[in-house]
Amino acid sequence: MTLEDKNQNDIVSSNTKNSLDIKYVFSDKPINRFKTKPKLEDKSTLLSKLKKEIENIENCELKNSSNKIVFSDGNDQSKVMIVGEGPGHKEDEIGKPFVGDAGMLLNKMLKAINVERNQVYITNVVNYRPPNNRKPEPTEVKRYSEFLRKHISIIDPKILILMGSTAMESLFGSNIKITKERGNWKDIIINNKTYLCIITFHPAYLLRQPENKKYSWIDLKKIRKKIDQLNLSL
Ligand code: URA
Repeated sequence: MTLEDKNQNDIVSSNTKNSLDIKYVFSDKPINRFKTKPKLEDKSTLLSKLKKEIENIENCELKNSSNKIVFSDGNDQSKVMIVGEGPGHKEDEIGKPFVGDAGMLLNKMLKAINVERNQVYITNVVNYRPPNNRKPEPTEVKRYSEFLRKHISIIDPKILILMGSTAMESLFGSNIKITKERGNWKDIIINNKTYLCIITFHPAYLLRQPENKKYSWIDLKKIRKKIDQLNLSL
């Protein structure tokens, strides 16, 4: 092949070109750069990898004393993600979050703002039931918060709802108080991305302190308003 065959648009005459000692000739063909990009893994692959990673945790009292992993429930394509504290007895038995009494109240709370449970994505700070339903220890919360951050990045919600102080502390630290922070929209940066987040009371707390349901109702209405403002299709 002569040089001019390759450089179709070359303005240098072929005689000049062939008289020069040209070592390289560049093709004018467009380069398909997309071909070389790594294929993005889909959500369900990333979620199963994360679940495996959690299942492989070592030296964890929560895992060792529980029945099974409680990873998540709901729609992984949802734009609304709810984070609770950790599995209780029923969740540990069934393997799904929020299926006991607190879960029944959560379902009702969602219904009150016209949201069905299967339209949101639900998980917990810790994925194994703490022995005797104790609160997860700060070290456990810290350890599992790495998984939770990954989980949030994978789901990539437009609205993140943190239910209770454990969920709040796992992402914001323990220097803040839920009574002061609940009901305010906040930004949280996770893996270089900013998420819109709201802290609200945990349904189990509301079962113990029903007089505080009025505050949750205010928060729920704010969540409904935001879903509408952002035009989220659930
Ligand atoms: N409480 C939680 O925080 N999560 C559950 O899954 C159940 C009860």
